This record gives sequence, C-alpha cells and structure tokens, in this order.
Amino acid sequence: MAKAPLRVAITGAAGQIGYSLLFRIANGDMLGKDQPVILQLLEVADEKPQKALKGVMMELEDCAFPLLAGVSAHSDPMTAFKDADVALLVGSRPRGPGMERKDLLEANAQIFTVQGKALDAVASRNVKVLVVGNPANTNAYIAMKSAPSLPRKNFTAMLRLDHNRAVSQIAIKLGKPVASIDKMFVWGNHSTTMYPDYRFATADGVSVRDAIHDEDWNNDVFLPTVGKRGAAIIEARGLSSAASAANAAVNHVRDWLLGTNGKWTTMGIPADGSYGIHEDIIFGFPVTTENGEYKVVEGLDMDTFSKEHIDLSLKELIEERESIKHLLS
Ligand code: NAD
Ligand code: LMR
Repeated sequence: MAKAPLRVAITGAAGQIGYSLLFRIANGDMLGKDQPVILQLLEVADEKPQKALKGVMMELEDCAFPLLAGVSAHSDPMTAFKDADVALLVGSRPRGPGMERKDLLEANAQIFTVQGKALDAVASRNVKVLVVGNPANTNAYIAMKSAPSLPRKNFTAMLRLDHNRAVSQIAIKLGKPVASIDKMFVWGNHSTTMYPDYRFATADGVSVRDAIHDEDWNNDVFLPTVGKRGAAIIEARGLSSAASAANAAVNHVRDWLLGTNGKWTTMGIPADGSYGIHEDIIFGFPVTTENGEYKVVEGLDMDTFSKEHIDLSLKELIEERESIKHLLS
C-alpha cells in the first residue's frame, strides 16, 4: 500500500538554496523513493519573492514528479507550518564578502523567534526541524527556545555541509573514494571556530591519521580549508554556497529519518552534557542515527589540541547566545 504523504515546510523557498532543495526533495532524495511529499513553501510577503515562488511552483509542476502529492505557497508561517512533519528553516539573509556568519545575527535572529512560535502552535508534535539560515546554531537555539511545547531534541542546525567538505578533503588527500571514509565529524559552531576532527576517521577501515601521517597538514591545510570554505565560495561565486548547502540539508534529514546504518555523521544538536558540554546551546557532535533518532557517539578520547578547539567554539556560541538573550524574554 502507498505511504501517506509527509508534509515538508521550507522557508526561503524562492531563494538560491530553495531552488536546488525543492527539486531534490520532490524527487525522493530526502525522504525515500517510496515516500510521497507535500511541500509547504514560505516566502516573505513582498511581491517579488512571492512572484518568484509562483515561477518555482510552475517548474515543480513541469517536472511531473511522481512523489509530489501537493505544493502550496505561503507568506504566513502559521499556515506554512500547519501539521508539518519536517521543517527546513532556510529563509534568511546570506552573508556577503568580508562578513562573518555571526554578523547576520542582528538581521536574522528575529525571524527564528517568529517561526519557532509558529512551529510550536501548528506543526506536528514530532516535527523534525533543521535550521540552515545563518548563524545556524544560534538561530536553531532561538527557534527551539521559542517552541517550548515541542521536543528540544527535534531542533537541529546544519553542520552537514562542513562534514561533507571535510570528508571530501580527506578523500582527495588520500586519493580514495568518498564512500570509503567513515568516522569523520565536526565539533561546534557552523563558523570559522568549527573543529573538523579527523583523529578517528578511517578510509576502508584504516586510520586516516596514520595514512596521512602529517600533523602539519591537519593544522595548516585541512582545518583552514574546511573552516573557511564558505568564504572561499562567496569570494569565487559572489554568492554563498547553494547547491552544496541544499545537498547537505537533504543528507542531514535523510540520515536523521532513515538512519546511517552505523556510520558516523555530524549534526548540530542541543548539547546534553556529552563531552562535558553542559551549556544550553546547539553544538556539532558526532552522531549515529536509527529509527528517526540520533545518538551521540560516546567515549572518544580528548587531547589538548582538540579540547582547545572545542572550547573556542563553545565560547563563541555562549557569546552569540548572550547577544540574542533579549529576544527570548
Ligand atoms: P537567498 O537570499 O538566495 O534566499 C533567502 C530567501 O529567504 C529569500 O528568497 C528571502 O526572500 C527569504 N526570506 C527571508 N526572510 C524570510 C522569512 N522571514 N520567511 C521566509 N522567507 C524568508 O539566500 P540563500 O543563499 O538561499 O541562503 C539562505 C540562508 O542559508 C542564508 O542565511 C545563508 O547564509 C544560509 N546558509 C547556511 C548554510 C549552512 O551550512 N548552515 C549553507 C549555505 C547557506
Ligand atoms: C557556507 O558555509 O557555505 C554557508 O554557511 C554560507 C556562508 O556564509 O559561508
């Protein structure tokens, strides 16, 4: 028997990321090739984005996706999030050249209080939320705090793009296929303080660290390449990453709902005290997933280098949280 459709709400649907994301979801890449979907698309009420959204909807229609069971356009989160099973919060301003992601807090934070409240009021009680809009960790925190009746654990931030970037850099360095890499992950904030930790990574079961055998490469090449990749793309394209961001969002939700089969991945999740991180923040952790739930990979050794990097990201997130405190009172 055919499955009942799942409702996926997407904000910023007429933006750059939206233009890649919607078609991937409608094609079954995110929820499975046997899972019909209804897309509930939110854009700001202005004429231009609403008109652009109509154009995107025409294109969705023209693809004749067999899994697409419905599409609707909204300018009010209270209708866009109604009964949503999955909510992808993309809509917000991207950074330009020379900006850090936290420079967007001022412009974007308010969006996530309004949308958190709307999710709280009308979404499915088990809605799975992924925040993509930057600064993603703190925006996810704002949405979570604005939705007290929903499970905290269902609010996540996207570090999957950083994870994918790290996996690709290692695969290139070793001359191995991406699929051979496991146990790679990224701690912390989706910002330049993120810490891609390759100490436990394997390629075809063999230690990546041993195979590379060059700690200078880690410090001088790997960490800055992954940490500054977003800025490098803005510099090259004049626009922030879009297709790779949409792909990472698809990967994040697919793995969350359909499972990683024992493989490790990275999700920005509410800290639960694992690895001594007791602060009320959203932090990138190594996780595995099964039956729609994620679980932090426990018991990994800490060394001084890693501890220092993790502390830096933690400190930055605490500062970001302090700077938006007034929005939550
Ligand atoms: P974009 O400017 O092309 O599109 C954003 C869209 O959001 C616009 O169409 C805009 O009208 C809409 N929007 C703005 N406020 C909204 C609101 N309150 N409700 C609904 N829609 C709203 O930007 P983009 O390139 O698609 O990027 C979107 C966000 O994603 C940016 O903040 C960017 O920095 C972030 N991003 C995050 C990651 C990540 O890894 N976490 C990766 C890439 C981009
Ligand atoms: C990215 O990592 O590509 C995005 O967060 C966009 C940005 O501002 O870097």
